[in-house]
Amino acid sequence: MSWDIFIKMKPITKHISTFFRSASIQDLDQILRIEQRAYSQPWSEQKFVDSFNHADIDIQLATQDQMVIGYCLTLPSLEFVDVLNICIDPDYQQQGLGRQLLDNLCKQHKGSARKAIMLEVRESNIVAINFYQSYGFKQIDIRKKYYSNGEDAKILRLQID
Ligand SMILES: CC(C)(COP(=O)(O)OP(=O)(O)OC[C@H]1O[C@@H](n2cnc3c(N)ncnc32)[C@H](O)[C@@H]1OP(=O)(O)O)[C@@H](O)C(=O)NCCC(=O)NCCS
Repeated sequence: MSWDIFIKMKPITKHISTFFRSASIQDLDQILRIEQRAYSQPWSEQKFVDSFNHADIDIQLATQDQMVIGYCLTLPSLEFVDVLNICIDPDYQQQGLGRQLLDNLCKQHKGSARKAIMLEVRESNIVAINFYQSYGFKQIDIRKKYYSNGEDAKILRLQID
């Protein structure tokens, strides 16, 4: 007698959801690890500590399995929101997560008096410029020698009402 056992196996695919939450100082180490890998000129630890201590700066995280995979620091004013830093872990880039961080930001300010998102981007940061333009940001100005290395900044704006 022989037993032929056919087991129909479904491929196991784990769907990992992305969650958004406000950051706390306990997240600083994970944020710094991403910052240092993602940028050639990363923010210093002190700049992040100052941001955590700044009453008006909002720090939102994108997480998967409770691990930080991206962050967005913003400074809202009366009429617009200024993006100070937005970054996705290089291992998770080009998966739509940056776009989800911007969706989350727009959702946060929907219905408020703030009608635009503003930001500065290095003119050499072609990936980020493509990213913002694909989202609908428009260049409204250029700031000459804005960065410490003499590089110009493009000023981009997105209408959010
Ligand atoms: C810019 C950044 C946040 C984009 O995040 P991301 O999760 O990789 O971007 P997404 O996957 O959401 O991409 C959305 C769109 O942006 C554009 N884009 C993103 N990465 C790109 C790349 N490497 N090359 C060209 N276009 C790109 C595409 O149009 C893309 O849409 P598509 O996937 O339909 O083609 C990420 O590259 C990053 O963290 N870079 C380092 C930090 C940085 O430069 N931040 C900006 C400072 S101003």
